[in-house]
Amino acid sequence: MAIPVLSSRSTHQDPFGGRQLDLLSPAYGSPHFPDEVPGAFGLSFSPALVRHLIHTHSRPGDTVLDCFLGGGTTVYEALMMGRQAVGVDCNERYVEEVRSRLLSGVGPSLYTADARSLPSLLEPESVDLVITQPPYGNTHPFSRHLSDDLSRLASREFLLAIEEVADSLWQVLKPGGLCALQIGDIKDRGRMMPLGFQFVHRFLSRGFSVKVMYDHRTPLSPLPLTLHPHEYLILFQKKESDKKQKTTKSARWIS
Ligand SMILES: C[S@@+](CC[C@H](N)C(=O)[O-])C[C@H]1O[C@@H](n2cnc3c(N)ncnc32)[C@H](O)[C@@H]1O
Repeated sequence: MAIPVLSSRSTHQDPFGGRQLDLLSPAYGSPHFPDEVPGAFGLSFSPALVRHLIHTHSRPGDTVLDCFLGGGTTVYEALMMGRQAVGVDCNERYVEEVRSRLLSGVGPSLYTADARSLPSLLEPESVDLVITQPPYGNTHPFSRHLSDDLSRLASREFLLAIEEVADSLWQVLKPGGLCALQIGDIKDRGRMMPLGFQFVHRFLSRGFSVKVMYDHRTPLSPLPLTLHPHEYLILFQKKESDKKQKTTKSARWIS
C-alpha cells in the first residue's frame, strides 16, 4: 500500500485518497519558479516508469538514490513504496522545493551537492538502486551561475564529467546494484550527437556493464518520452566480476 509522504503543498490534488494517481501527468514532479530557465523541467521523469523500476529492481527497506534529483520524482516514489530515499542536486532551490513538498517527519536524505562527490556524502556500497536522469548536455540549462551544474558545460567537459559521475556512482552502489539512467540524443551545433551511446561508452569505461537498453519502448510503453527523437532507458549494473576488469576495460574503451 502506498505510504502518504507528500504535504498539501504538493502539485497533486488528493494524491492518495484511494483513487489511482494520474501517473502520466506532465505536472507531476515539475516545480516552477518565476525565474526558472524556460523549459528546464521539460525533462522530468515519468512517475509510472520510476515506480515500475523501483518495484522490479528493489525491495522494501532498500536504498534508492537519485543524484540528479530535479523535481524529486524518484524520492517521492521510493518513499511511497517503503524504500529509503536519497536525493542529490547541485541546485539548492530544487532540493528545498522537494523538501517542502514532503510531510514533516518523512525523512529522505536530501543533499545540495555535486553528483561527482557522492562518496563524500554516502557510505561506500550503501545504495541498492539508482534511478536518475542527468542533464541532456547543455540543451536545457538548469541554472545560470552554478559552477557544478553539468548543463552549463560544453560537450567535451560534459562527457568527462559523466565519467566522474560514473566513478562516483560505482563507489556508493552495492555490488550487483543497478543504475537506471534516462537520457536522450541531442543536437549540438546543428549536428546530431548520440548522447545515449556516449553514456554507454563512458559508463562501460568506468567498469559498469549494460544489463539492458531500451529506446522509447520502455517496459511501460507507451510513455511520454517524446521530447527527443531517441530517448533511452539504460540499466547499468555494477557486477563484481567487472571490478577486476575495470582497469583493462577502461584502457580498452578510452583508447
Ligand atoms: C533532467 S533534470 C532531472 C529531472 C528529474 N528526473 C525529475 O523527475 O524532475 C537534471 C537535474 O540535474 C541537476 N544537476 C546538474 N548538474 C548537477 C550536478 N553536477 N550534480 C547534481 N545535480 C546536477 C540539475 O539541477 C537538474 O535538476
